[in-house]
Amino acid sequence: MKETVLITGVAGLIGARFADWMISNKPSFDVIGIDDLSGGYMENVNPAVIFYNMDCCSAELKGVFEKHKPTYVFHFAAYAAEGLSPFIRTFNYTNNLLSTANIVNCCINNDVQRLIFTSTLAVYGYGQGGIFHEDMARSPIDPYGVAKAACEMDIEIASEQHGLDYCILRPHNVYGIKQNIWDKYRNVLGIWMYYHLNNQPLTIFGDGTQKRAFSYVDDCLEPIWNSAVLEEASKQIINIGGVKEYSIKESAETLKEVMGSGEFVFLEKRHEVHTAIPTFEKSIDILKYKHSTDLKEGLEEMWKWAQEQPKRDRFVWGEYEVEKGIYSYWK
Ligand SMILES: NC(=O)c1ccc[n+]([C@@H]2O[C@H](COP(=O)([O-])OP(=O)(O)OC[C@H]3O[C@@H](n4cnc5c(N)ncnc54)[C@H](O)[C@@H]3O)[C@@H](O)[C@H]2O)c1
Repeated sequence: MKETVLITGVAGLIGARFADWMISNKPSFDVIGIDDLSGGYMENVNPAVIFYNMDCCSAELKGVFEKHKPTYVFHFAAYAAEGLSPFIRTFNYTNNLLSTANIVNCCINNDVQRLIFTSTLAVYGYGQGGIFHEDMARSPIDPYGVAKAACEMDIEIASEQHGLDYCILRPHNVYGIKQNIWDKYRNVLGIWMYYHLNNQPLTIFGDGTQKRAFSYVDDCLEPIWNSAVLEEASKQIINIGGVKEYSIKESAETLKEVMGSGEFVFLEKRHEVHTAIPTFEKSIDILKYKHSTDLKEGLEEMWKWAQEQPKRDRFVWGEYEVEKGIYSYWK
């Protein structure tokens, strides 16, 4: 019998591209995929994946683990709308924290060899002068960051008490083909592509001096596999992604160059971290991360793909849990 890996969020950006990579590079493994299609698309899922349309919070998850007995679990499923999370608190904690607790239970009960969890830079909050080093204390400033920080701590406790092995990855601003470009609240580069395809200007919150280290998804795939199989990655927390920071304005200019045109419009500032400079030495030393794709090159690939996508309705929340303090552009 073949060994299996289980990928949650397999219809989303990282999950779908990682499944593609596994199928091309690790044919000795069967790939089991779970996704509730709340933020990803069935068209993204490689036909070789054994797919379950399922919410990670559901009791049925247990049956999938018992049937397939995965060696490694890659838990990517989440709703990563950081800026929106204060206005959808309950949804955020249910979808991001409770679903992870369900996954952790299943990993413990089925002797999974290692759980890979994608956390976020949001656990650092403001960091120290914008620097985010893995050794810093968690200090999130929004419910999304709190949920991910709680997941990380829960995994560490499961490791200490139940011997669950893990690697926690903190990716940053990942983009590329198969990203959701139809969600109004997340994925800035995808949002801009959607606007441009629909003859609207590119929106920038605040003055656009905010800095982010964008990461092309394909550069992250082999390092993600390494996080599961390398001994040195056991029980580590590792920032993963691009090694160069760009201001939001600079990245919009780069995308404009790629798309051939585009206007900008500056909107009300959000409650967000201004500068995010993650350290990357650990990802290079332990996971063998290589920054192979520059922003312009990655955007060229993604823009080509975006233009071939079907017309889809944009995802907009019908009702927020909290309206107080919500930004004018989300009302
Ligand atoms: N993309 C980034 O820049 C980035 C940065 C930091 C962290 N992360 C983390 O990496 C992971 C993957 O991110 P992504 O960019 O691929 O996101 P994505 O939205 O493209 O993919 C997430 C997938 O999870 C699915 N999903 C959501 N909730 C689910 C649930 N309860 N049950 C089953 N499926 C569910 C969605 O339908 C979607 O297909 C997430 O955990 C995210 O928090 C991403």
